[in-house]
Amino acid sequence: MKLNLAERLITNNPIRAFSQRHIEGPMLKKMGRHSKYPLCLEIGCGQGIGAEVIAERFGSEKVIATDIDPEQLERAKKNIKKELKGRIEFKVEDAMSLDEPDDKFDAVFSFGVIHHTEDWRKAVKEISRVLKTGGEFFFEEPLRAFMDNFLVRSLTAHPEGGRFNYEEFKSELEKNNIAITGVKRLGNIAVFGAGKKGQ
Ligand SMILES: C[S@@+](CC[C@H](N)C(=O)[O-])C[C@H]1O[C@@H](n2cnc3c(N)ncnc32)[C@H](O)[C@@H]1O
Repeated sequence: MKLNLAERLITNNPIRAFSQRHIEGPMLKKMGRHSKYPLCLEIGCGQGIGAEVIAERFGSEKVIATDIDPEQLERAKKNIKKELKGRIEFKVEDAMSLDEPDDKFDAVFSFGVIHHTEDWRKAVKEISRVLKTGGEFFFEEPLRAFMDNFLVRSLTAHPEGGRFNYEEFKSELEKNNIAITGVKRLGNIAVFGAGKKGQ
């Protein structure tokens, strides 16, 4: 679901960029089990800082950075560093029905995106489908308690189908053959590393 005005202001700014580069990026990298992830997918790339973090920190040769909103992709294309342009491809894609083949990626990233989807379980299923066996899923997501906060409900327009608590999320990952390998809680926001198991 596209962002409303308040969400755009919260997301598309230098403070968010700083946090992705210097807080979430390093935290996620520490949870990873490999030194390099050659082919990566990012869902909901927003202003494009996640793709930069993936290319620079995760040793990615190629990042496919996707978003449902073409305006966000245009913003991301403008923001991306010149020297990374050849390694990042931008595409409009819906995280709930990815236009990617099965078992393709070494890692998939979601920086605060799954809670924006109308059906978070569909997004988890798609992420598992496109991950290689042994591939990793890195994500940070606000949990239901955060989303149900009065201020968050008043300012933002998140779909009801994108809300989950930690146990629900973990159990859905397991159903889709993904095991959590690391978690850090920042209040009701959780940062995760997880790996796809063999069938
Ligand atoms: C809160 S923003 C996060 C942007 C960026 N990842 C960041 O951390 O700053 C959520 C992003 O997800 C995108 N989005 C929402 N629903 C989506 C969907 N179903 N599939 C792909 N992207 C989606 C929005 O357009 C927006 O750019």
